[in-house]
Amino acid sequence: QAGTRKPEPGDRLTFQADDRQGQPLKLADLVVGAAPTMAYPVDPTSGKALVSRANLLTVTRIAPDALKPTSAKNAADGVVAFSALCTHAGCPVTSLHPSKTQLVCNCHGSVFDACDRGTVINGPATRRLAMLPLALKDGVLTIAGRFDGPIGPPT
Ligand code: FES
Repeated sequence: QAGTRKPEPGDRLTFQADDRQGQPLKLADLVVGAAPTMAYPVDPTSGKALVSRANLLTVTRIAPDALKPTSAKNAADGVVAFSALCTHAGCPVTSLHPSKTQLVCNCHGSVFDACDRGTVINGPATRRLAMLPLALKDGVLTIAGRFDGPIGPPT
């Protein structure tokens, strides 16, 4: 995995899960209020998932009117994508808070606001999650920009 490139605009998303890796991640696969889907970018040339820790994404569908402008500008029909690496100690952020608008890291309980570009609501994390802009192309979630901040724990 060393040397795997970063997500680029135009990369489609696919599932992290082995049994669905390679299949396009579509808007229709995501339900408002469901647990985040863990995803990777796909290289459009090779068609292969760009698998690395740094490329793991946590993707969640939120009611569009719940998003603040900070998240709405990077969302596609309410779907938001963040670096899955918790900024506390690097665990994957895999859970949805009962609020349905916040993401939870199960390692030590950090909570991030998916509606406000990953801002920390509860520590121990002190830095927000990096957001990755999305767009829809033929119903498939596609990357539309670059991470808007540093990923993973501060070094
Ligand atoms: Fe996420 Fe500690 S690694 S809260």
